[in-house]
Amino acid sequence: MPRQMHLAAHFPGVNSTTVWADPRSGSQIDFSSFEHLARTAERGRFDFFFLAEGLRLREHNGLIHDLDVVGRPESLTVLNALAAVTDRLGLAATVNATFNEPYELARRLATLDHLSGGRAAWNVVTSSDAFTGENFRRGGFLDRAERYTRAAEFVAAARELWDAWTPDGRSRPFAHDGPQFTISGEFTVPRSPQGHPVVIQAGDSAEGREFAASAADVVFTRHGTLEAGRAFYADVKGRLAAYGRTPDQLTIMPGVTVVVGDTDAEAQERAAEIRRRQVSPQTALLALEQVWGHDLSGYDPDGPLPATDPVPDSEIVQGRVRHGDPLAVAARWRAVSEAKGLSIRQTVIETTTRQSFIGSPETVAAELTAFVDADAADGFILVPHLTPGGLDDFVDRVVPLLQERGAFRSEYSGSTLRSHLGLAEPVWKG
Ligand SMILES: Cc1cc2nc3c(=O)[nH]c(=O)nc-3n(C[C@H](O)[C@H](O)[C@H](O)COP(=O)(O)O)c2cc1C
Repeated sequence: MPRQMHLAAHFPGVNSTTVWADPRSGSQIDFSSFEHLARTAERGRFDFFFLAEGLRLREHNGLIHDLDVVGRPESLTVLNALAAVTDRLGLAATVNATFNEPYELARRLATLDHLSGGRAAWNVVTSSDAFTGENFRRGGFLDRAERYTRAAEFVAAARELWDAWTPDGRSRPFAHDGPQFTISGEFTVPRSPQGHPVVIQAGDSAEGREFAASAADVVFTRHGTLEAGRAFYADVKGRLAAYGRTPDQLTIMPGVTVVVGDTDAEAQERAAEIRRRQVSPQTALLALEQVWGHDLSGYDPDGPLPATDPVPDSEIVQGRVRHGDPLAVAARWRAVSEAKGLSIRQTVIETTTRQSFIGSPETVAAELTAFVDADAADGFILVPHLTPGGLDDFVDRVVPLLQERGAFRSEYSGSTLRSHLGLAEPVWKG
């Protein structure tokens, strides 16, 4: 019998994964879009629905980056609305630990947990750049090196607030005194159904991984290839013992895409077409500028990569999460381009493709199962390329096969997200 996997639905919304030119693409703001994806995920018995966050519209070369769709509503508000139209599905919001305060955020998360009957999750992110900080009056008040110091103390303080009410419903005063937060008083929201909403972590640095091992219930990772997935999985699970935790207390879920076709060949063809539409000639040049850090608009997207090296510490891109050192990324892109004789656009397509599972429903189900059996992941956060119908095919055609194999639940066995993830109730620390 295979190990049961966990599944989550990432609302693609604002990013270059979404093929906005497709006539089936819908709004990233209308409630009906969120509702469609959430209902689809619940029909598929998914663990949770996931919303990312961007606290400032990203800019490229001083202009709003307008090749992707920009602008989105605030996540916790959307999830509260989704709580009313779903029943079992977990509801996860990405919320920054740098530009928020524990008291207010703990209240809002506990409220979502109440309204949803125990389905709230918080993806703790830590971007601390001054560009984002300008929106909050504080600019770059927090050194990048301190982003996880604050996040760890933030989560600890939130847990103290969630424990401020006893399980039998009495409020007790709280007091937290640390380098980042000195707060005291009474917490206004009674203990919520999960006790503590589920905590997700998504940073990839050594500090990020350590924070995940110490404090998170789920990790959202980019490491989706079998090799990289296994290395990441062993590394992060290996860090748990130092915190008195066992491997089953942390669920590792890479973000992946899936393209399903009637046959493997048809799915491969569809996937290649999707990639070409995701990376237009113009998108390819902007992706190149994001790594090289300067204007490359004179380059031919169908020609070779620039011979020069990237400019370090460039600010050409603002408000976007950077993955990796530009010099290392450029070296990797060059190696791929030279080895395969690829143009700029082909190189961007080749190197920026998220781990994909492509094939007939049978192939996709078999590969997902094998991935989990190889300890490369405990499950997957699926990032569809269409809003909002991008998981319809997966739920209708792949989920039943996973269920037949015993690799995924056929019914929810509990009503809280903690129960879907196999996590125990947190012990109340009064
Ligand atoms: C898969 C993944 C998804 C992320 N999603 C978001 C997001 O939606 N919003 C955000 O502000 N940061 C997001 N981040 C950024 C991280 O949480 C973190 O703040 C950033 O990567 C810096 O931490 P690090 O140096 O440990 O990677 C994401 C990171 C990863 C790896």
